[in-house]
Amino acid sequence: MVRVGLVGCGFMGQMHATVHGLVKNSQLVGVFDSSRERGEAFAAKHGCQFYDSFEALANDVDVIDICLPTFRHREFTVKAAALKKHVLCEKPMALTMDDAVTMKQACEDAGVRLMIAHCIRFWPEYALLKQIAVTGHLGDILSLNLTRYGEFPHWGSDNWLADESRAGGGALDMHIHDTDYALFLLGQPKEIFSAGTIDARGVSHIFSTFVYNKAVCHLEGGWNMPPGTPFKMAFRAVFEQGAVIMDDCPMTVYEKGKEPYIPEFPKMEAAGGGNISDLGGYYHEVAHFIDRLETGAPFDVTNPETSLQSLQVTLREIEQVKSRAAR
Ligand SMILES: NC(=O)c1ccc[n+]([C@@H]2O[C@H](COP(=O)([O-])OP(=O)(O)OC[C@H]3O[C@@H](n4cnc5c(N)ncnc54)[C@H](O)[C@@H]3O)[C@@H](O)[C@H]2O)c1
Repeated sequence: MVRVGLVGCGFMGQMHATVHGLVKNSQLVGVFDSSRERGEAFAAKHGCQFYDSFEALANDVDVIDICLPTFRHREFTVKAAALKKHVLCEKPMALTMDDAVTMKQACEDAGVRLMIAHCIRFWPEYALLKQIAVTGHLGDILSLNLTRYGEFPHWGSDNWLADESRAGGGALDMHIHDTDYALFLLGQPKEIFSAGTIDARGVSHIFSTFVYNKAVCHLEGGWNMPPGTPFKMAFRAVFEQGAVIMDDCPMTVYEKGKEPYIPEFPKMEAAGGGNISDLGGYYHEVAHFIDRLETGAPFDVTNPETSLQSLQVTLREIEQVKSRAAR
């Protein structure tokens, strides 16, 4: 059993805590939050203990799960590593490459493991698309569209998401999911072109084109839609022998000469009740992390190096948007 201590009892903390309650061999021992009121209510809801210091929590667990605002990721990862705790940390890894490199180095020096929670790699539809690409069943990918947008996330404690110096803007906070996935599927692009909208919260809507030897990838991400706009997450991958599309429709596979088909993602029930399928990639991501800690096997879906690369490319995209706007 892996004993987990969660830091940050907000939006993602709720999701992670629910998942820890369902993943075999994960035990949520306790939580820490700078808001005692929120932390205590959260601990009561999830049947664990509230600790009034990070160090006291760390003392009782094997793993620190960091669900803090992005600007706190480096500080708490370094503190957890110093206390010899493995770390699962929400994406984006950090606000800057310097912070991210420090996090990776601190964990390596301490001999603890670090995984950044890039959940889209674990999302059932996206994971299946990766599998289809790897098997070569439909030939090579010719083009890929990745889309993710919605209204501004107003839930952040202290409205930290609206502050670019703490969240990095919509491109870093939300669009990085698709940048990370593009790198997962197609690797490092040969060329990047980005343009977008900048507002008081940073780059709030971005359009990027990643050029590869054979494929081209178009990415759109933003969080500046009017209130009430439904959240959209979509992809369209065109292969030599077909296409795979999830865009206001269930993921559908089109193959030349065959009837289109809709893959089934079986509904999975957790041992203690609760529907794992409704938790999307979050369940698979945390289950992977816990399994790899227990077995000692490498993180073979996402690792600190791939997370550094995703951060680096996203920061390049943001830089391009800003320098283009400044011309
Ligand atoms: N993977 C995803 O799909 C996804 C979705 C949303 C957010 N995120 C990421 O998750 C992270 C957390 O975002 P969120 O939306 O849950 O934020 P949030 O504001 O809802 O929650 C943050 C919590 O951290 C606490 N906190 C802040 N500073 C603290 C400190 N110094 N010590 C202890 N507690 C402190 C706050 O009181 C709050 O309870 C961010 O990095 C965000 O980018 C990921």
